[in-house]
Amino acid sequence: MCAGSKTALSKRKERIPALMNEQSLVARPLTPRLRAFFYGGDYNPEQWTPAFGSDEEEVWREDMRLMRQAHVNVATVGVFSWVSLQPDEHTFTFGWLDRVMDLLAENQLFACLATGTAAQPAWLSTAYPDVLPVDEQGVRRGHGERQNYCPTSPDFRRLAQNLARRLAARYSDHPALLVWHVSNEYGPSCYCERCASRFRAWLQARYGSLEAVNLHWNTTFWSHTYTAWEQIIPPGSRAERSVQGLLLDYRRFLSAMNLECYRGEAEILHTATPGIPVTTNFMGTHKPLDYFSWAPYLDIISYDSYPSRTMSPARVAFRHDLMRGLKAGQSWLLMEQTPSQTQWMPYNPLKRPGVLRLQSYQAVAHGADAVMYFQWRQSRGASEMFHGAVVSHAGHEHTRVFGEVAALGAELASLGDGIVGTRLPTRVAIIFSWPNWWNVEYLPGPSSALNYVEDVLMYYQMLWEHNIAVDIIPPDHELRGYDLVIAPLLNMVSREQAASIERFVEQGGTFVTSYFSGVVDEDARAWLGGYPGPLRRTLGIWVEEFDPLEPEMDNHVVVAEGVKLPAGSYRCDTWCDLLHLEGAIALAHYGEEFYAGRPAITEHAFGKGRAIYVATRPERTLIDALLGMLLDELEITSPLRTPTGIEVTRREGDGRSYLFVLNHNAGPAQISLPMPMYDLLTGETRTAMLELPARGVAVLMPA
Ligand code: GLA
Ligand code: ZN
Repeated sequence: MCAGSKTALSKRKERIPALMNEQSLVARPLTPRLRAFFYGGDYNPEQWTPAFGSDEEEVWREDMRLMRQAHVNVATVGVFSWVSLQPDEHTFTFGWLDRVMDLLAENQLFACLATGTAAQPAWLSTAYPDVLPVDEQGVRRGHGERQNYCPTSPDFRRLAQNLARRLAARYSDHPALLVWHVSNEYGPSCYCERCASRFRAWLQARYGSLEAVNLHWNTTFWSHTYTAWEQIIPPGSRAERSVQGLLLDYRRFLSAMNLECYRGEAEILHTATPGIPVTTNFMGTHKPLDYFSWAPYLDIISYDSYPSRTMSPARVAFRHDLMRGLKAGQSWLLMEQTPSQTQWMPYNPLKRPGVLRLQSYQAVAHGADAVMYFQWRQSRGASEMFHGAVVSHAGHEHTRVFGEVAALGAELASLGDGIVGTRLPTRVAIIFSWPNWWNVEYLPGPSSALNYVEDVLMYYQMLWEHNIAVDIIPPDHELRGYDLVIAPLLNMVSREQAASIERFVEQGGTFVTSYFSGVVDEDARAWLGGYPGPLRRTLGIWVEEFDPLEPEMDNHVVVAEGVKLPAGSYRCDTWCDLLHLEGAIALAHYGEEFYAGRPAITEHAFGKGRAIYVATRPERTLIDALLGMLLDELEITSPLRTPTGIEVTRREGDGRSYLFVLNHNAGPAQISLPMPMYDLLTGETRTAMLELPARGVAVLMPA
């Protein structure tokens, strides 16, 4: 099966330490099997070869030549290859993949080998029709698309695992095998009978008894009490929509069932190839899956980044930081991005020259150890025929896009392995929680304007503009070690999470949270005895009422002279909490309404630390001033002072320190340097001033 180059590659492999961080949230530096950045992307030879009408081997050989020319070292193979590997239940056709794997090895290239199970073949849906999912309306879907299966289907799982098992057995010793890529972008949902019964079993395991379910879901309201397990059916637009505990738990359940599908395949791969890391590609702020609960089962996080043209670099950075946060700061793989354009947005403009390079370095600047693409070669037809690719329909390398990809490949290769595995030092964390996100959506009111992710982003944006490195962490994460922890709109908080926040503040931390936080527990039931529930003592306030504003309503936050925030009157909207001070002091007050003069921002000195409450949604300038003040007081500074639109991050490890300077502006920029710095990308030393062209990048080390 393997070609002649096996020995050389195997030798190389032996020298490279194993790369596992199996099922551990404790981040360990990833020792890459490749002593370099992973560079490459989706290579789907089975999807386009027939379309070229030429000898397939000829096209594959040409691909190998072009990959080498582009400094590619990893090809993600077979992401949607199920039917090409198994044309019917009893026939397997690995021949073409053997050849592709061998060609990769011969060309000193590695494979991110997919299990190919993200889209089941039509024969499978036909033979096992109940593999197809049932939608919220109770209607079974037809075959088609991808991720179109019921995540609890035993037949789907059995057949998917069988394919994974055969792939693992066949390629376990293949010199090209670098990393496993399970399925692709998980997320199917289903409301079928089987899911309903699995859900009941899942509830039984979670709560122990039906009485406990009723209690946790507060079902006596509207006479919703269940008196037998069979009465519990999945929520839906034609079924139950009012029991938020049910809605929330069904989200948790679907995330868990998807995870079971992933783990079923991953465990097979781990057993067969203990030294090979296993991953599946995530999608950033993808609502259906609680990625924090998935992360322990991935050896390395991988992420597909597809920012629209107008998406702010802060938003892009937030998703990168979220992905880095999933494994407590461990570096991650940028598994996919388009080299030029997508095809699935309403409009798909080209990435302007330089944008690909800038966005690639932005990922690296936020902890990525890989820069990879979807896709290598454009297919002749079907859904993604016009999606950007390294090799376009033209079929050769004489294109702008290939030129940019090859130039970037050369540049990344020249950086060597120093940056790989380094981490971002951080003193600030933002708490992010999927269950809280779902919960805010399922609450019975009180405002349809609540948008959890946007609120988190508002605080993140300010830190991004100050060039402050931020970890995005789940509410259960250890907070010790941070100086500033921000938890915007943390509506759902458990007793344990609140206790951890309290300890953090007591021991000297600064904690910031915003309106409508600490209101419900992990079952979405209100905390009794006064909001913000278990955070009340830490924050030194009692929220008696809240006033969710209509879109045309607003208020003002007034900061008086003599307070440490800049005096003035700042607009606020969406929400106003009406609170009493219980030890906290007011930093600002409301300007209008019957609650004019009551506290709008409070600060509570507690233990050695303090806790700040922002009782409304003030305009950005005030949030900026507040965070700016806290950063000053805590002496948390940016690694460089830069003009607007220049992003700076630092990665460190093994005594090395790399400063990434990214110019997101359409014009050139000048940045003064505190000391002479060596630019790895140009090979030049800058003494006092760094000049960057529009969209320019520098990777600096102390000279
Ligand atoms: C996702 C998928 C790919 C492809 C791209 C297109 O990230 O993983 O298969 O569909 O989107 O942008
Ligand atoms: Zn189902």
